[in-house]
Amino acid sequence: MNGKLITFEGCEGVGKSTQLRLLKEYLERTGQSAVFTREPGGTPIAEEIRSMLLYKNFEISPVVEAYLFATARADHVNRVILPALEQGKLVVCDRYLDSSLAYQGVARGLGIDTVLAYNRYAVQTCMPDYTVFLKMDPLHSWRKQKGKTVEGDRMEQEDAAFHSAVYRGFLELEQRYPERYLTIVPQEDKLATHAAIVGALVAKRVIG
Ligand code: TYD
Repeated sequence: MNGKLITFEGCEGVGKSTQLRLLKEYLERTGQSAVFTREPGGTPIAEEIRSMLLYKNFEISPVVEAYLFATARADHVNRVILPALEQGKLVVCDRYLDSSLAYQGVARGLGIDTVLAYNRYAVQTCMPDYTVFLKMDPLHSWRKQKGKTVEGDRMEQEDAAFHSAVYRGFLELEQRYPERYLTIVPQEDKLATHAAIVGALVAKRVIG
């Protein structure tokens, strides 16, 4: 497997989607190819699970929630991520395993190791090579949620304590995986943040 898997992680409202778009434009401009994908989602089954998880009014227990994210991930890895990596491609994924570890493991209280165990078969050998972590406390996020439904999805409706716990989860993962975490503190100037992300990925020789 000589492709590379780069994941983008962080709390809600830190500008992750904007940064993914800017990176995609940068790679297109400079003639570099990459597969951009997202979680939960990326395949028809996983998109269906995404809508169950985020937009339906089911009462979902933390364990079931964690398994549903892992199930969506298993399909996504099998059909999209693993084949692309085997073909030597660069894969950039909007959220991945670490979102499960932070949201379900820490914020829902299941424990990082438990959720990691649920995900072992789902991720197979596809651990991220690098994780771009947009490090900003969601309570200090200046960006208003835009372009989302008025009430927000199931996760966005959670309270401040939940989102703080998610942030603490990512801080724990940053400590646990220092070799793959590329921590970027978002600036108000989104192009400055973009330059920092490109710089970090160039330094690791993931992109040129
Ligand atoms: P999305 O609209 O993609 O959120 P964002 O724009 O913030 O990335 O919705 C994904 C939501 O699902 C987000 O709140 C994070 C959450 N999530 C988990 O709880 N566990 C997971 O494993 C993944 C991939 C996402």
